[in-house]
Amino acid sequence: MTAAQIKILVTGAAGQIGSELTPLLRKKFGPENVLATDIKTDIPPVLNDSGPYEKLDVTNPTRLKEIIKKYQINTIYHMSAILSATGEKKPQLAWNVNISGTHNILEASRELNLKKIFVPSSIAVFGPETPKELTPQETVLKPKTMYGVTKVAGELLCDYYVQHYRLDIRGCRYPGIISYETLPGGGTTDYAVAIFYAAIKYKKYTCFVNKNTMLPMMYMPDCLKATIDIMEADFSRFEHHSNFNIAGMSFKVEDLAAEIKKHIPEFTVDYKPDYRQEIADSWPKSVNDAAARK
Ligand code: SER
Repeated sequence: MTAAQIKILVTGAAGQIGSELTPLLRKKFGPENVLATDIKTDIPPVLNDSGPYEKLDVTNPTRLKEIIKKYQINTIYHMSAILSATGEKKPQLAWNVNISGTHNILEASRELNLKKIFVPSSIAVFGPETPKELTPQETVLKPKTMYGVTKVAGELLCDYYVQHYRLDIRGCRYPGIISYETLPGGGTTDYAVAIFYAAIKYKKYTCFVNKNTMLPMMYMPDCLKATIDIMEADFSRFEHHSNFNIAGMSFKVEDLAAEIKKHIPEFTVDYKPDYRQEIADSWPKSVNDAAARK
């Protein structure tokens, strides 16, 4: 497929990753070849100004297929999802968006013969029984959050569509992503972004997990690189499909706070762990990404 033939649809384009992935794809493949979609009406100006946009609720398969046909889409980056913390508040919504939404994307891709689909997963597929340090690629997947349940099911659904319908589906298990363009929303790893905003604005931050919490994290440029690299790798050599572990860095909250303090000496953090502590405690501290590197 040459760059000129690629017609991309990004779902969840106004989200934390979508709002940076979409401009990057537009730069790479031409703005007119990358359609941004989101359920939101107030989308970041960077998306509106730089290429086509359509409002899309991924739980609506009819509208999804209409859009695919209208823009002659052959590639999808399916970035929309309800994350872990919101998912615990609204488990039915999480199931609907993450499961029905993903199923709609896969079904539309099957019916309309799409060429390549990216479906992200998450470190949320792991649970308390999973080894916590350098978590292997193949391991126990018994998540305790609805988000994790939908991500495990999503990985399995993708494998099913690869095996039974020969679709080209790829994806990775994102760690917490650290970025500044668009704030994350509804995730457990959000503290690692919120802490920077609070440090600059208020010189203090109240953290919803305790100071020893350590989770796998990744800086946005590395997240975008991993995403594109997985999309461009030779599919025939893949031993996995939509579940590659990818690793960046791991740190305790107190270590991050100490680093920020070096730049803003008056910065202080207090800790008020809430329901998200239990979610964080059920996830690994670091993951082994040897399969993705290979
Ligand atoms: N960032 C996500 C969350 O915290 C994990 O994939 O829910």
